This record gives sequence, C-alpha cells and structure tokens, in this order.
Amino acid sequence: MDLSGLDKSRLPQHVAIIMDGNGRWAKERGKSRIEGHRRGKTSVRVIVEMSRKIGIPYLSLYAFSTENWLRPQDEIHALMGLLEHYLAAEQAKMMRYSIRLLAIGDRSRLPISVRRTLERVIDLTRDNKRMTVILALSYSGRNEVVRMVKRLASEVREGKYEPEEIDEKIIAAHMDTPDVPDPDLLIRTSGELRISNFYLWQIAYSELYVTPTLWPDFREKDYLQALIEFQRRRRRFGRTDEQVMDPAPSSLEASGIKS
Ligand code: IPE
Ligand code: IPE
Ligand code: MG
Repeated sequence: MDLSGLDKSRLPQHVAIIMDGNGRWAKERGKSRIEGHRRGKTSVRVIVEMSRKIGIPYLSLYAFSTENWLRPQDEIHALMGLLEHYLAAEQAKMMRYSIRLLAIGDRSRLPISVRRTLERVIDLTRDNKRMTVILALSYSGRNEVVRMVKRLASEVREGKYEPEEIDEKIIAAHMDTPDVPDPDLLIRTSGELRISNFYLWQIAYSELYVTPTLWPDFREKDYLQALIEFQRRRRRFGRTDEQVMDPAPSSLEASGIKS
C-alpha cells in the first residue's frame, strides 16, 4: 500500500468507524446477512492492521448497538459467535503488536461466554502501549449518558462533588472513554447520513466522512482515501479561518479549545 499521499505529521489520533452495510452486501449477492457479517470481520482485521501500520493510536469500532438487540435472534446469535471468535483469534496478534483492547457499552447484556472472552482479552492486553482498539458492544451514546449520570449522581450523593463544580472535564471522566481523546475522524460506511446512537458527547468536533462503500468492501484503499480527505479539512473549532491558518491545527489540544 502506497502511503505517500499521507502527511505523517497530521494523522488523526483517534478514528471512529460506524461499520455499516453487511446486510446489504450479502443481499446484493443473494447470501445470508450472516455471510455479510462474516466478511465484515475480515474488514475489521484489515483496518486494525492498517491503523497499526500507519500509527493511529486510537481506533473505535461500532460493532453492536443497544438497538441491535432488537434484531432476529439468529442474527444476534451469529454476531455474538463471530465476535467471540474474532477476540479469541486476534489475542495473540494484539500481544505481538502491543495492541490494547477496550470495550464500551453495557457489557452486562452480552452472553456470558462472550463477556468472559472479552474480559480475558482486555485484561491480557491492558499494558499494551502501541495502539488502543475500542470495541463498542451493546453500546449507544444515549445509554452511555444514562450510565454516566447515574455514576455521577451517586458520587454527588456521597459528597465527592458539589453539583456546582460539575464541568465538562468531570463529565468526560465519567463517560465510557475517560482516558481516550475524542475522535478526530468519524467514518460511516454504506452511505447512511446518520450517527445511529454512536458516540454523542465525544464527536462534538469530529470530522465526518461518509462513504457509499459497504463495510465488507471497505479495505485499505478506502481507508486511505478517508484519511487523505481528513487531512484536507480545516478544523476551526469555532474560530475563524485566519486564526487557525498557520499552523493548521489537527486536534482540539492544538487549538487550545480542550482544556
Ligand atoms: C452493520 O451491518 C453491522 C451491524 C449493525 C451489526 P448491518 O447488519 O447493519 O447491514 P445493513 O445496514 O443491514 O446493510
Ligand atoms: C449502526 O448500524 C450500528 C452499528 C454499525 C453497530 P445500524 O445498521 O444498526 O443503524 P441504522 O439502523 O441503519 O441506523
Ligand atoms: Mg445497518
């Protein structure tokens, strides 16, 4: 893969992906939706590997939403099986390349064997430093907010915080991603122009990139195209073009907006 079109000094620190279109990919080929998910798993592997090679420190993958629990049981069952298989198959590679796994979402709803495997891999990879992969499983942005408010409210009740001192920093620290920088780039495959309850708080200033390519077809060249497009964007964070012109800041930190 020729990466010469990429400016290594302006890479996104965090890429988040809404991996959509597995069902349509399968339907177009007269295959079952589950075949689409199976092929989508290969895209996951390819995109994690490419992120690692390029040197993107954080990659979030929206794999299963809170609302996806409403799908037919056999599809849910197959997705959970694929997930467990993916985790078990990738753990050696995660250790070899120093990849840390995190999961966000309501883990209590996952089948016990998936949860055990997930927790084992999270635990095994906890000290890995090169890259962090964040799997959003049984996740929705609103559900995250609900859980955040519950945690924070009980800490206020315990006297840990005064309601008046609650600020953006304290809220961010109580979300599912306390030590993760906000996504710089949010990619959605399959052409849908919506967020579908993925990160809500965290994407306040993310650059959005939607491609008609279906997730099972999303591979290196598509990812490279998204990254190149990201590097063409001018992120203003509310300021004027002139203020951000030189040097073009590529992160909230650089703009001084995020305290
Ligand atoms: C994304 O593909 C995978 C999950 C949501 C689990 P879909 O299964 O949503 O595929 P489409 O949108 O029906 O094509
Ligand atoms: C979003 O895709 C969720 C994931 C990719 C895990 P959906 O297919 O569930 O979203 P909608 O229903 O088209 O909004
Ligand atoms: Mg979909």
